[in-house]
Amino acid sequence: MKRVVILTGAGISAESGISTFRDSDGLWEQYRVEDVATPEGYAKDKALVLDFYNQRRRQLATVEPNEGHKQLVRLEQYYDVQIITQNVDNLHEQAGSKNVLHLHGELTKARSERNDDLIVDIGYNDIHLGDKAPDGAQLRPHIVWFGEAVPNIEPAAALCEQADFFVVVGTSMNVYPAAGLIHYVPRTSPCYLVDPKAVTISRNIKVIQEKAGTGVKKVVDELIELCNK
Ligand code: OAD
Repeated sequence: MKRVVILTGAGISAESGISTFRDSDGLWEQYRVEDVATPEGYAKDKALVLDFYNQRRRQLATVEPNEGHKQLVRLEQYYDVQIITQNVDNLHEQAGSKNVLHLHGELTKARSERNDDLIVDIGYNDIHLGDKAPDGAQLRPHIVWFGEAVPNIEPAAALCEQADFFVVVGTSMNVYPAAGLIHYVPRTSPCYLVDPKAVTISRNIKVIQEKAGTGVKKVVDELIELCNK
């Protein structure tokens, strides 16, 4: 089976009702990144940061995967599909995708402040000040904040090196190292981009300038047709 690697960002979850970050109505228009998505912000005001992610988690409990997520599941009948997502929601998993690698963490998990490898499932529950990990340390969101290492970038790069096709959906390609993953994809492997806005990418790429709900289906239809040839 040929491999399709898909890099997704906030845009694929927009039609489910989750805000993106950098659009005009995006989260970074309402909150300062430094306050809620950096280790320094957390050190300054833990309650504020916990509350920010508690709100995101509560919202996640109320939304569902959309057509964009669902179309990617259809592709698994034809290809080895590997999803690399910058999203901290679980909508790919809810839709039924088997292989999902989270680059920036997961809302439904928390970890020890003292030990990055001590990760616990919390479902849709809030994290409060005083909630402890099994090692007795305060629980923090299992989220990669700006200025922190991205532990899954190496397995992600390895997946990209073995991509026969590469598809980018709903990311402004502003945040590294995620945005650099495309450079690991072999030059001979066709690339697609689904986004309603023009996103600048320094490589030959077929652009479907549409929302994920309609655009992903077009890419999936084309890939299935190629597979059947
Ligand atoms: P951005 O908010 O930067 O970009 C969202 C992209 O989705 C934009 O290019 C939009 O045009 C596009 N978009 C909007 N609606 C769409 C739709 N219906 N269908 C498809 N695309 C749509 O979000 P990301 O690129 O995901 O990190 O941001 C990357 C990282 O920056 C996030 O993971 C987060 C953030 O700060 C952390 O919090 C660590």
